[in-house]
Amino acid sequence: MHDVRGALISRAWPTDRIAFGGDYNPEQWPREVWRDDVRLMAEAGVSFVTLGVFAWSWLEPEPGRFDTEWLDESMDLLHDHGIAVDLATGTASPPPWFSHRHPETLPVDHSGRTLWPGSRQTWCPSSPVFTEHAVALVEMLASRFHDHPALAMWHVSNEYACHNLPCYCDTCADAFRTWLQRRYGHLDALNDAWGTSFWSQRYGDWAEINPPRRTTAIPNPTQAVDYARFGSDTLLEQFLAEREVLARWTPDVPVTTNFMSMSMFRRLDYHRWAAHQDVISTDHYPLTHLDDPVAELAFAADLTRGFAGGRPWVLMEHAPSAVNWQPVNRAKGPGEMIRHSLIHVARGADALGFFQWRASRAGAEKFHSALVPHAGSESKVFAEACRLGRLAGALGEVVGSRVVADVAVLWDYEASWACQQPAHPSNAIEYADVAADVHAGLRAMAITADVVHPSADLSAYRLVIVPTLYTCRDDSAASVAAAAEAGATVLVTYFSGIVDEHDHIRLGGYPGAFRDLLGVRVEEFFPLAPQATVALSDGTSGTAWSELLQAVDAEVVTTFTEQPLAGVPAVTRRRVGAGAAWYVATRLSNTAWATLLNRLTAEAGVQPAAVVPAGIEAVRRACDERSWLFLINHTEADHEVTVDGTDLVDGVERTGTWTLPAGAVSVLRQPAYRN
Ligand code: GAL
Repeated sequence: MHDVRGALISRAWPTDRIAFGGDYNPEQWPREVWRDDVRLMAEAGVSFVTLGVFAWSWLEPEPGRFDTEWLDESMDLLHDHGIAVDLATGTASPPPWFSHRHPETLPVDHSGRTLWPGSRQTWCPSSPVFTEHAVALVEMLASRFHDHPALAMWHVSNEYACHNLPCYCDTCADAFRTWLQRRYGHLDALNDAWGTSFWSQRYGDWAEINPPRRTTAIPNPTQAVDYARFGSDTLLEQFLAEREVLARWTPDVPVTTNFMSMSMFRRLDYHRWAAHQDVISTDHYPLTHLDDPVAELAFAADLTRGFAGGRPWVLMEHAPSAVNWQPVNRAKGPGEMIRHSLIHVARGADALGFFQWRASRAGAEKFHSALVPHAGSESKVFAEACRLGRLAGALGEVVGSRVVADVAVLWDYEASWACQQPAHPSNAIEYADVAADVHAGLRAMAITADVVHPSADLSAYRLVIVPTLYTCRDDSAASVAAAAEAGATVLVTYFSGIVDEHDHIRLGGYPGAFRDLLGVRVEEFFPLAPQATVALSDGTSGTAWSELLQAVDAEVVTTFTEQPLAGVPAVTRRRVGAGAAWYVATRLSNTAWATLLNRLTAEAGVQPAAVVPAGIEAVRRACDERSWLFLINHTEADHEVTVDGTDLVDGVERTGTWTLPAGAVSVLRQPAYRN
């Protein structure tokens, strides 16, 4: 496996800069535009492009007839201009002839309706016919381009599962049965895991089992979670089939597929996928309906670094300005694109890719922003692209360095799938909410967290946060307990450790997996009505959740002060070995989180990246010899900061107190960081 640095060094991809570029679709344009493209790419400092993501119908215009002349020409032209190519396998969207000849590959929705061609990703995840054609295309591409000097990385498919998962067709039903046989071995084990004694669901033959298609009433939750696991594994098999071809032809060229690590997209278990990527790459688009889209952006970047095991990663796509798929597509203000890009770099990205290079004239995404907009290069966006290209060049020394983080926030797709099932105590419990609250609270304190899987090595963290980890395996619970024992401060929140991996309740009082560690026992949940709040004894409040909690062997920090739970503990702390284990039984307000996080970080000895005014994001990357402090002013006001270092943005030496202008960014080279 390569890390990004290895990947960049292994081939033509430049090593002396943060790679900068994006999706390039020359098949949409005549040749004269191609020449204009490479001229403008040189002007903007573009160092890589992703080529051919949706080009299958050009590469194989008829079954078995391949045409790669245009791709050859494009690769040559790019190479002549010093631009490296992340070559897509083109398998994201099969051509119309494929769907026409193989209608059995069309995906089917929950209610049994077929999804027809005319958009993209119209293929069933379990289809062996699709695999066969996709692998043949990849074989052809690899055989023709394996030694092309522009080839720097392989980009398999595109955003797996974005549109075609889950599929409920008969091919998937068969594949699901096979997957279940592998998982459980015997029907008794499946019946036990799925709790089929309930509602007369006991299976006597594998053939009786179906995907969780539309049902009369509440579906079996374990069946639903298994179907999510199956879907993720099935698409992973598709990825591995392509990967195998590429690894055979070009063992030295890294292979990746672009994840969608936005916190709201949770159809794939990216932790399982990550192990099969040479380089972790991801796409990110801020969701404007969120209260704080930039906080989510920072969260997603920290999550992506978690997939990469702390190593640098590639931001494959983000938007130069507006997208075209939200109800209202907000354009980015001056400097906003650069601030967003820099958040990703600060949090571990060594490459900045955009969707897309040139705005399309036609098709479903013609109103999506691009580095070269419809207005052409005389534009705000292209001017900012040129600025960013220069900045990417100036940040070269940062490439390969690690992000400094002493806090871990646990994140688990399986827990999310189970947590989001219907018929729970409250459908106001959204898996990501508490993780987002805590992450945002820490970010406001200039404290960076790694967002990691519960099975990650927690031993180096001073503070470990366990937010609504509804499903928890025994070994994960043990690892959290071991971290506390060894000196970490651990915080567990409500609706964690409730069930095992089969979605069976851990009996004897909630939160079963963490009861002993926390020294608490919950008898009953008291979820709150949508707008309701509950007052706490320290003057703050909670929303969404409360519970009848007993502090069996823990100190009571705050209590609920309202009926029916007046006097019942809301926040507790237990001394554990060299550390401590805290529990929070409600969704705290932002102010309450701020107070609690102050106390926790002080207890754990976690330091901010720098002491900065509110609204300035501060994150540190470091290598053995030096470190870099990233400062991003998200406010509309100039702010004074007191930090020293050489600013890579403009080469100026900063000392003492100086002004970071409204909307500006700064990257200070500083001495090695010693914690
Ligand atoms: C991504 C996708 C791109 C483009 C982009 C628009 O999900 O990979 O092809 O559609 O969204 O925001």
